[in-house]
Amino acid sequence: MMIPSFTDTPSGNESGVFLAVDFGGTNLRCLLIKTELNTIRNKVQRSMVLDPKIPTGEILFSTIASFIVEFLEENKSFLEPRPEVLPVGFTFSFPIQQTSIASGKLIMWTKEFVASGVVGKDVVELLHAELAKRKYEWVKVVALCNDTVGTLCASTTEHPTAKIGVILGTGSNACYQERMEAITKINQEGASSSSSSSSEAASKKMIINMEWGGYDGFPSTPEDDEVNHMTRKQGQQRLEKMVSGRYLPMLVRVCMNKCIRCGWILNCFDQEKIGVWDKNEELSLIEIGKVEHDRSPNMDMARSFIIRFCEDKSLDKNAIPLHEVVLIRSLFHAIVVRSARYAAVAISTLIQHIVTTGEQLEELTVAIDGSVYHKHIGYKEELHASVDKCCKSLMMGPTPPEVHVVGTQDGSGLGAAIIAAVQVAH
Ligand code: BGC
Repeated sequence: MMIPSFTDTPSGNESGVFLAVDFGGTNLRCLLIKTELNTIRNKVQRSMVLDPKIPTGEILFSTIASFIVEFLEENKSFLEPRPEVLPVGFTFSFPIQQTSIASGKLIMWTKEFVASGVVGKDVVELLHAELAKRKYEWVKVVALCNDTVGTLCASTTEHPTAKIGVILGTGSNACYQERMEAITKINQEGASSSSSSSSEAASKKMIINMEWGGYDGFPSTPEDDEVNHMTRKQGQQRLEKMVSGRYLPMLVRVCMNKCIRCGWILNCFDQEKIGVWDKNEELSLIEIGKVEHDRSPNMDMARSFIIRFCEDKSLDKNAIPLHEVVLIRSLFHAIVVRSARYAAVAISTLIQHIVTTGEQLEELTVAIDGSVYHKHIGYKEELHASVDKCCKSLMMGPTPPEVHVVGTQDGSGLGAAIIAAVQVAH
């Protein structure tokens, strides 16, 4: 899926007060931002956890609108005097068929979200309708964007050579800056109504939301297939199910249970006492990381962890032979390393596309955000080393650019505000 975003990276001259509403995988966030020449002067924010099992779109959008209203009430002083229109940048981190910078229909839910009645609808209209019910028509979405697009736009202030935005969090995706003439999905009319800086008027560009989570060309294992069968969108989002934080614990669970069933591990215990390992699906990526990095001589922490997810929690953790605990640690590590390497291959191939089809670049920056990238110990290092290796082995033209991979934070929210600012400036 390659989705035009109807925006380009900002020029750096945008100023004003903007609201960013960031609806992603796990959290809903509101940010009020004052910008001056693209520099954030002031900012307040608040977030809440959103349950992916929210059953209907009505409840979902009413929750988002109520949260916005409460947030604005709390921060009235930030808005004094109240503007006639408060421009909103709305980050909606799901596949959206964008029809303009401020409108787009949900193609499908990902990351196991279920809310009914939203697919095929314009998510900006749904939000405006709920805001209108609360007499908040003056709060108006002027820019709708994906979190990858927000990440890329927010990073360009600090990293002017940024061309790629990547999210490695609950879900996974990337966007990149493409030459307008190469975007066949948009005609010239679309090109002229899109936003881009004046310096680029001659060679217009637009950011493309790749929705790379849907790529299915990487080799998969029977365990990947099992995870796929357990999910709502079977057969879709295959790359996302191999790399992102929503699915890595599922993959670990499936692999552990297979190893137990086959008698490769934990056969010191009665299989009935083990039951289905992590039956209640409580395993988190944080715990996977802890086991992966347990370097103590007897691996006590890892042992306790293995028992914690067995049916019978009174099993003796010291009965597990050390080599099995080491094997389990290696299994977890392999699953995480594969995620980082697949992401690195995808990033490097995208770099190759940009440098072999676009202008000559001396430097190119990849901006990455997301909990897996930032919080999982060792992930960043593995990813950076793998991008390095891949870039060296791929054909990158006669003078390959210097590639920088940088972590950015808050991009999905800040970027939305910056894109909103670009729209207002036009
Ligand atoms: C969504 C993308 C989003 C990514 C990261 C995926 O599940 O389809 O739109 O960018 O998650 O949040």
